[in-house]
Amino acid sequence: METIRRTRIVDLLKRVDYGTKVNVKGWVRTKRGSKAVNFIALNDGSTIKNVQIVADGEKFDPETIKQITTGACINVNGLLVESPGAGQNVEIQAEEIEIYGTCPQDYPMQKKGQTFEYMRQHAHMRLRTNTFGAVFRIRHNMAIAIHKFFHDRGFFYFHSPIITASDCEGAGEMFQVTTKNLYDLKKDEEGRIIYDDDFFGKMTSLTVSGQLEGELGATALGQIYTFGPTFRAENSNTPRHLAEFWMIEPEVAFIDMNDLMDLEEEFIKYCVQWALDNCQDDLEFLNKMIDKTLIERLNSVVSTDFIRLPYTEGIKILEEAAAKGRKFEFPIKWGMDLASEHERYLVEEHFKKPVILTDYPKEIKAFYMKQNEDGKTVQGTDVLFPQIGEIIGGSVREESYDKLINRINELNIPMKDMWWYLDTRKFGTCPHGGFGLGFERLILFVTGMQNIRDVIPFPRTPKTAEF
Ligand code: 4AD
Ligand code: MG
Repeated sequence: METIRRTRIVDLLKRVDYGTKVNVKGWVRTKRGSKAVNFIALNDGSTIKNVQIVADGEKFDPETIKQITTGACINVNGLLVESPGAGQNVEIQAEEIEIYGTCPQDYPMQKKGQTFEYMRQHAHMRLRTNTFGAVFRIRHNMAIAIHKFFHDRGFFYFHSPIITASDCEGAGEMFQVTTKNLYDLKKDEEGRIIYDDDFFGKMTSLTVSGQLEGELGATALGQIYTFGPTFRAENSNTPRHLAEFWMIEPEVAFIDMNDLMDLEEEFIKYCVQWALDNCQDDLEFLNKMIDKTLIERLNSVVSTDFIRLPYTEGIKILEEAAAKGRKFEFPIKWGMDLASEHERYLVEEHFKKPVILTDYPKEIKAFYMKQNEDGKTVQGTDVLFPQIGEIIGGSVREESYDKLINRINELNIPMKDMWWYLDTRKFGTCPHGGFGLGFERLILFVTGMQNIRDVIPFPRTPKTAEF
């Protein structure tokens, strides 16, 4: 076969130099036709769009044509020609076809219209479908948007550790990291495991958040962001929770509640706008196949002001709704952590736009949040989104050494593990704050997909770690 430099399909479809000899390589989506002529829809992952390969029966051995089935991988030389068919400008008049890999009948992505659950069980092959191709191209674009947003605003990308000895959120949902022989654990008289001889000489886990180290970065470099995997051993089998997810955590010195909320809102809008500007083809596909209101919803989010509402006001609105007969599964009471049904009521029914809820009761929030004068609430913010619920959790941090120590003591958090964190408050403390955005929740929103397992290539959830 003649060697011609490969063109990616995304680039090929923009070309108008008809008559040029081109090469494309990719996977067959469909083949239809007759003895006289075959039409092959070829995709190489560079775009949702296929290129049509026209293979004249007389030019090719029927055995070769027979092997070109859905899923097969082929290498094609041919002429770029103007396409008479609707829906595409160009097609390729094939001259040579090499079969890289045939695809037997048991190819798991053979049939169209499989359920998402089926796709998850074949997550190693689902990447080759239109839907997952679109989702993961968008996921890539969102990662680029995030770096661009922060870089353009003078934030430094800061790498917090994956292995850590502290539990940032204090929820005890950590996966342990050890090299100890689990069949032969050394214990003290009270039955507690001795870690002195473990790899790190202490109990360590996978991080639930890079925030604590991010605060060290922000109180030195001014403004940083982390963007990496985080791990939570919470046994939540919901369409919104993963055991391994990616989080973006900016942390900023000299910031107050209003600055923080401005940053949260500007950041999300920037990412959504980026998708609208850079992922048009994939969004149009998802809008057609997955969620007919997707693009409309994305446009609406970038053009509306988010509601900013104290938790206490939110509770009042929920109580009034309940009094008027709106049924909630969980009764409403000041001090409660809002359930998903409450968040969705506020966002989807009451305000019909994103809501930033602020000033939560301190009992339901982490130790590091700045305490308000009232002694009851803290300067935490949750950004609540239609369909998603909580997409961001953030706060202004308690910068007073004494107040922070008191809270740590009240919550019985082991001090000896926290000494380095407390040093930020001891040496040149400053007002600061930040937030964490769950990357997959953003991808859920931007793609219109319904289940968080379908927006990360290889989901980790309770009882699943395949692939
Ligand atoms: O609200 P969270 O727990 O906040 C923190 O971790 C803070 N340290 C962030 C900070 O202030 N720097 O988590 C932040 C976000 C949530 O709003 C949610 O979007 C996402 O992380 N998240 C999850 N996403 C997928 N699966 C899970 N199990 C998640 N838990 C939290
Ligand atoms: Mg939260």
